[in-house]
Amino acid sequence: MNRHMIRLANLADLDSLVILERDSFPDENFSRRRMRYLMLRAKSVALVHEEKGIHGYALLLFRNDTDAARLYSVCVDGSHRNKGVGKGLVDSAEQTAKRMGRKRMTLEVKEDCKVTVQFYCKLGYVPVGRLKNYYGKGVHGLRMMRHF
Ligand SMILES: CC(C)(COP(=O)(O)OP(=O)(O)OC[C@H]1O[C@@H](n2cnc3c(N)ncnc32)[C@H](O)[C@@H]1OP(=O)(O)O)[C@@H](O)C(=O)NCCC(=O)NCCS
Repeated sequence: MNRHMIRLANLADLDSLVILERDSFPDENFSRRRMRYLMLRAKSVALVHEEKGIHGYALLLFRNDTDAARLYSVCVDGSHRNKGVGKGLVDSAEQTAKRMGRKRMTLEVKEDCKVTVQFYCKLGYVPVGRLKNYYGKGVHGLRMMRHF
């Protein structure tokens, strides 16, 4: 994976990001309107992996009252998984957070989504809390964190 394939997202990428979200999270994904809001109005940074098309993205959120950045979404399209694209996006998100003075990254995942939990464990994230019914009744979340 070439790091230079990762760049900041812009509004021209909106449709690609909405498609990536829908394909990766069929049950629950950001609507076009919500994605637009997150890109334009929220205190956020969106990164895309581009290589003859957009094959992955990461969305980071920031708040003023914490030294943590929040990795709000990461997804890679099905045909480009297991090639280091996700790792590259998380690395770049961490570099961005560090440049903005943050000391750690937090994220939430579905507890029973073993693939995703393993992916983040490989990248040095550790579970720091269980979020009961976070994704709906009986669908629990896991908060994970990594200090830089
Ligand atoms: C999870 C996801 C982002 C991983 O992206 P990816 O580009 O396939 O992952 P990478 O190729 O960068 O893998 C990084 C590490 O995680 C591990 N990993 C990736 N997928 C894995 C899997 N299915 N099972 C176990 N480990 C896995 C890899 O082995 C790799 O470790 P290595 O470098 O030691 O080999 C991708 O599968 C995805 O988009 N899934 C659906 C959406 C999702 O769940 N997003 C995350 C929550 S917001």
